[in-house]
Amino acid sequence: DVIREIEGLGKKERRLAEKLGLQHVLIVPGDADLDPLVKKALGHAAADYIRGILKSGDILAVTGGTTAATLADQMQRTQLGVEVVPARGGIGENMEFQANTIASRLASQLGGTYRLLHAPDLMSDEALQSFISEPHVQETLQRIRRARMVVHGIGQAIPMARRRKLPDAKIEQLAGQGAIAEAFGYYFDRSGNIVHAMNTVGLRLSDLKHIERIVAVAGGKSKAEAISAVAHGCPLHVLVTDEAVADAILTHR
Ligand code: G3H
Repeated sequence: DVIREIEGLGKKERRLAEKLGLQHVLIVPGDADLDPLVKKALGHAAADYIRGILKSGDILAVTGGTTAATLADQMQRTQLGVEVVPARGGIGENMEFQANTIASRLASQLGGTYRLLHAPDLMSDEALQSFISEPHVQETLQRIRRARMVVHGIGQAIPMARRRKLPDAKIEQLAGQGAIAEAFGYYFDRSGNIVHAMNTVGLRLSDLKHIERIVAVAGGKSKAEAISAVAHGCPLHVLVTDEAVADAILTHR
């Protein structure tokens, strides 16, 4: 903590928390866009933070993404006895970055159990409805909504839409609607309005207001606007980010 103050990070953390209306911000030095070690440090800081908060019997919901995967890699082994669940079903990521994969890896590191949501991508509304009505899916969805903590990544809208192979016409439409950020499979414009939601199961944005602690982990200067948009559009308590993002947001009017 003394080192954080000398580096001026403590002060930036407090200023950024105030600017974004958050309870707490953690900043790691550097820019994750430029140095993969910074992303690793982000994952490590987020992992330490959530391990310090979780208690036996808690339910932790996690999203997918490369940053959340790094967090799972960086999680120290403990015996916490928590349950880890994916925040939402399939949203078109590669296996190693899917929420299910990350939930199972985190559960093994935390000495806990996990439940998975095997929702295929691109289900029709009818298929989605019948999937949701399966009793074991219902049970998992109830556990997800009872999470005490949610940890999620934040991405830039258009790069995320491309990564998830949304059709070109949809990507153009998103760009036309001013989509700038993505989190939980929701796409947001600059002011934090939802412009598109992926058709999948799991946490809905409206469920977030019942969750005690929502933690976002995202870094790299290119994500600065996306992070601001999500902080405006989504309930969020804690942000783990890097100094490049903090500087970009703090110098922006
Ligand atoms: O859900 C994924 C996030 O929006 C961003 O993913 O951590 O790979 O950049 P990322």
